[in-house]
Amino acid sequence: MKIAKTVKEMRVVTRAARSAGKKLGLVPTMGALHGGHLTLVRAAKAACDMVVVSIFVNPLQFGPHEDLTTYPRDFEGDCKRLEREGVDCLFAPSVEEMYPDTSSTYVEVEGLSTRLCGGSRPGHFRGVATVVAKLFNIVEADLACFGQKDATQVAVLRRMVKDLNVPVEILVCPIVREPDGLAMSSRNAYLDPQQRKSALLLYRSLTEVERRFRQGERNPANLIEAGKLLLAQEPAVRLDYFSIVDPDTLTPVQELTRKTLVAVSAFVGRTRLIDNTVLVP
Ligand code: PAJ
Repeated sequence: MKIAKTVKEMRVVTRAARSAGKKLGLVPTMGALHGGHLTLVRAAKAACDMVVVSIFVNPLQFGPHEDLTTYPRDFEGDCKRLEREGVDCLFAPSVEEMYPDTSSTYVEVEGLSTRLCGGSRPGHFRGVATVVAKLFNIVEADLACFGQKDATQVAVLRRMVKDLNVPVEILVCPIVREPDGLAMSSRNAYLDPQQRKSALLLYRSLTEVERRFRQGERNPANLIEAGKLLLAQEPAVRLDYFSIVDPDTLTPVQELTRKTLVAVSAFVGRTRLIDNTVLVP
């Protein structure tokens, strides 16, 4: 596996793929790779001739009181995992490489960036959209894979690609879960055994909503109430939001007549976790 640490090195790989007429896939990550990330890698491999994975803990998407300095990092372990998956190239730039002192351009997806996770993390999606736009320009991939786990991110990036006419296809992969249902996340590493148990309530609240929906409940307010009630059983879980929204606009829906996103976010201790499910009538 080739490791490119600079934009220049990355462009050599991109140019080689281009001139060989190869379809190039990109999987952007912040590292500490788990089964969720690897599913994206496999999807990219299945759809493309060459796959680039990026690992960059993007300071621009962390708030001043968030976990930038403690974010889990395991570069050597990640390299081994990606080698095993047969990834062609790892793009792992430094912060200086991505954001030189002269850097002063940002991508802001208005509206969407302030909904769901954007509501609780001001500036977060400006950071995400900016770094992903840069990665798209640096790697020039034909296809990029993202996880449904970050549903707000998916909506923001889809809109960015559409609005800026970025020539990339976005492939969204389903949420990968631990055997008991907890959505895989690099941040699960922060949870102690007791918190790990409490964290399962996010998934349970979603399955409860799914169950009621299957039984015919179509009132979003009642479904939200049921989800919140379940989460309230566990004092260690502090709700951030529980919302039923249109998956593209992220605005609340009044009736469940179309594909709808049920998204939850809660703090377990100091760790903020997210999960979601899609209801299809
Ligand atoms: P990160 O949290 O490392 O996630 C990288 C990709 O893996 C994202 O597309 C995310 O949705 C996906 N992913 C994470 N957990 C998953 C799971 N359990 N199942 C399926 N997919 C999962 O998301 C980011 O990094 C950053 O914001 C990034 C896009 C790299 C920009 O910095």
